[in-house]
Amino acid sequence: MRNDQPGIHVDLSNLSPFAQGANRYCFQHPNNPDRCVKVIRPENIKARYRRQSPVKRVLGTARLNDNTQELKAHGQPAIRQLLRAGEENTVWAHLPRFYGSVETSLGPANESELIRCADGSVAPTLESLIRGKKVTPELQEAISRFEAWLAETRILTRNLLPHNLVVTDRSGQLELFLVDGLGAPTIPQALAGAPGWSERYIARKIARFHTRLAWEQDNQGFSWEDFQRLR
Ligand SMILES: Nc1ncnc2c1ncn2[C@@H]1O[C@H](COP(=O)(O)OP(=O)(O)OP(=O)(O)O)[C@@H](O)[C@H]1O
Ligand SMILES: [Mg+2]
Repeated sequence: MRNDQPGIHVDLSNLSPFAQGANRYCFQHPNNPDRCVKVIRPENIKARYRRQSPVKRVLGTARLNDNTQELKAHGQPAIRQLLRAGEENTVWAHLPRFYGSVETSLGPANESELIRCADGSVAPTLESLIRGKKVTPELQEAISRFEAWLAETRILTRNLLPHNLVVTDRSGQLELFLVDGLGAPTIPQALAGAPGWSERYIARKIARFHTRLAWEQDNQGFSWEDFQRLR
C-alpha cells in the first residue's frame, strides 16, 4: 500500500494501537491481520536520553532504541546458525516471525507476526494469566517447553518478563511466544561463543524467570526488588 507521502509504505494514521509497552506502540498491520508493526514512542527515547550521563550521551540514542536493538538481536549467532541450517521451524516455535524494519507514517517500525489464539483474538500475555493466580498444569507444561527451547537453541534473551511473553492455543496446546526482550545487548557477541558460557547465561535467565513467576503469582506484599533479595 502507498499513500501520498513518498517513502512511507505503511500508513498508520487514524489507527489505534492494539497494545503498547513502555517503549513502543503495537499496531495491527493495516494490510495483514497476521502481522504487527511496532513504532517507538518518541517521547520515551528523549526522556531516556536526558537521564543518561554526558559520557553515555555521546553514544547517541540508537542504543536506546528498542527497534534497533531487536533488529540486532535477530542477527545473533544462535538464530543465524539455525536459519542457515534450515531449522526455521525451531527458531519460530517460540518467537514471532520477524520481517525486519519498515517505514510507516509514525517512523520506522519493526514488523513481525501478530500472535493470535485459535479463536482469532490477540494472544494474552503470560502476566495476565498468572498475576495473583496459580499456574495451571497445562500452562506449566507450556512454560517448561519454552525453557527447554531456550536451553536447546541457546537463543539469548534479556531478563524474561511475563508481560513480554504471550500465550496462544493455536496449535491445539498452549505455547509461549517471546514478543519482546530478545538479545543480550550488554554482552560482547564474541563471549557468547566461549565454551559453556551461553548455557550458564541461559540457566541464570531461567532461574530468574522462576523467581519472577513466583512473585507474579503471590508477591507476599514485597516489591520485585525485595522479593529477589529474600530468595
Ligand atoms: N507479536 C505480538 N503478538 C501479540 N501481541 C503482541 C506482539 N507483540 C507485542 N504484543 C503485545 O503488545 C505489548 C507491548 O509490546 P512490546 O513488549 O513489544 O512493547 P515495548 O514497549 O517494547 O515493551 P516494554 O515495556 O517491555 O519495553 C506486549 O506486552 C503484548 O501484549
Ligand atoms: Mg515489552
